[in-house]
Order: sequence, then structure tokens, then C-alpha cells
Amino acid sequence: MLFKSIASVLAIAGLAAAQTKEYTHGHADIKMNGIDAMFTFDKVPGGMNITVTVNSGINATAQILPVGYEYHVHVNPVGPNNNCMATGLHLDPAKVGVVKPCEPANLTTCQTGDLSGKYGNFIGSETGAIPTKTYLDTQLTFTGEGENAMLGRSVVIHNNGTRVACANLIVEGYTAPAPTGSASPSGTGAPQASKTPTSGAAKLVGSVALSGVAALMMLAL
Ligand SMILES: *[C@@H]1O[C@H](CO)[C@@H](O)[C@H](O)[C@H]1NC(C)=O
Ligand SMILES: *[C@@H]1O[C@H](CO)[C@@H](O)[C@H](O)[C@H]1NC(C)=O
Ligand SMILES: *[C@@H]1O[C@H](CO)[C@@H](O)[C@H](O)[C@H]1NC(C)=O
Ligand SMILES: *[C@@H]1O[C@H](CO)[C@@H](O)[C@H](O)[C@H]1NC(C)=O
Repeated sequence: MLFKSIASVLAIAGLAAAQTKEYTHGHADIKMNGIDAMFTFDKVPGGMNITVTVNSGINATAQILPVGYEYHVHVNPVGPNNNCMATGLHLDPAKVGVVKPCEPANLTTCQTGDLSGKYGNFIGSETGAIPTKTYLDTQLTFTGEGENAMLGRSVVIHNNGTRVACANLIVEGYTAPAPTGSASPSGTGAPQASKTPTSGAAKLVGSVALSGVAALMMLAL
């Protein structure tokens, strides 16, 4: 009996470890206003591997220079009816603020979500397609202390600062909390107000911890 209980405590501890999710892949598939672009995010040993593929819409004629097409990770999901304004500010857990331009050689001057600041604006082409780009980012993480996490975020493309296209950042294995209001954005379910991206996981771990306590009580009996 005692042995069996110890085994169950160990099994539950293993379960808790397995249920603390490790996210490794995310993507934002942008299809709006003639822009067709895919951003993928892969957790790799050196950081976050970002690949950007633009099939159309980043064209030289529509481009307003000198600013051109900027692209960022924004804090909130896309709003109802593809509302890019609902995505809020750039992901900026270090509270760098909008310092333009960020100096890629000195990352402390760059907002974590300021991808174009770190890697350069998109330069429009005749066809609207641009060569695939790959970046290794050392600031972005899927999980972390609240604000740092990329769960429940979005990616937005700007033209001269105007938000021209956006999409939710879909992280494999992560389900956004159900919207509380009646209006639901197209695509994935997305929270309306403040997010606590890790609360679901925390609750899960919490309940597993509780069963662990129950098992320990069994052990004591
Ligand atoms: C990052 O992604 C590119 C394109 O898929 C790939 O060629 C490269 O090996 C990846 N880098 C790492 C560090 O995984
Ligand atoms: C240029 O991009 C805009 C959207 O940004 C699109 O409406 C337009 O059709 C594009 N033109 C070409 C030639 O691709
Ligand atoms: C990087 O930028 C920060 C903030 O502007 C500055 O304090 C620091 O001196 C810079 N470091 C280097 C090596 O330029
Ligand atoms: C580009 O943005 C600047 C700064 O907001 C603005 O003054 C300018 O009018 C914009 N250009 C066009 C062509 O919209």
C-alpha cells in the first residue's frame, strides 16, 4: 500500500511535468488588403528562429517611403472584423518605448516585438513578393513572466506607420481563452481584455498539485 502510494505520487509528479507545456512553434498567416504573408516562429537552441515569406502585397507602387513596410509583434489579438487597431502596442516587456530607429547592434534600444527595427523594413517589389527572410531572434520567447510571453499576440504589417494587415499569432498547443463578449473575431477565439496567458496552465498545474496533496494524504494514512 505504502509503496503503491509512493509510486502514484511519483506518477503524478511526472504528469505535472508533462502538463507544463513547452511551446516550440507558432505562426501568423496574414491575408488582408492584398497582402499574403506568413511569419513562422520556431524555438531553437539559440533563440527564436523567424522565417518570413511574403507572396504578395508588399509592392513598390503601394509603398510609402521613406518609412515603408514595418512589421511587429503586437500585444493583443486582432479585433472583430480584422481590426488591426485592436492589437494595441508593440510587444515591449522591457519597456523600451518607441525609440526610432532601434539599433540592432544594441538590442537594449529595441522593443522585443519590433521585428522590422531589428531586421529591416520590407522593401516593396514589382510583384509584391519578397525573398524569404530568416532571422534568429534572441529576445522573443513563447512563455515567460506574463508580458514576455508570445501567447495570445498578433503580427501587424504597417505602411508608413498605418496598420495595413494583421493576423493572430497562433502558437501550437495553446488555446486562447474564450472571448467574454458577444463579438468574436474571425479566426481563433481571442480574449477581449487583459490577458493572463499562463493562467490556464497554472490552473492545470495547480489542480495536479492538489491531487498530489491528496495522494500524500493517502500516504500519511
Ligand atoms: C531557421 O530556419 C531556417 C529556414 O527554415 C533554417 O534553414 C535554419 O536552419 C533554421 N535555423 C535554426 C538555428 O534552426
Ligand atoms: C499592391 O498592394 C496593394 C495592397 O497593399 C494591392 O491592393 C495592389 O493590388 C498591389 N499591386 C500590385 C501590382 O501587386
Ligand atoms: C545601448 O543602448 C543603451 C540605451 O540607449 C545605452 O545606455 C548603452 O550605452 C548602449 N550600449 C552600447 C554598447 O552602445
Ligand atoms: C507618412 O507618414 C508621415 C508621418 O506620420 C506623414 O506625415 C505623411 O503624410 C505620410 N505620408 C503619406 C503619403 O501618407
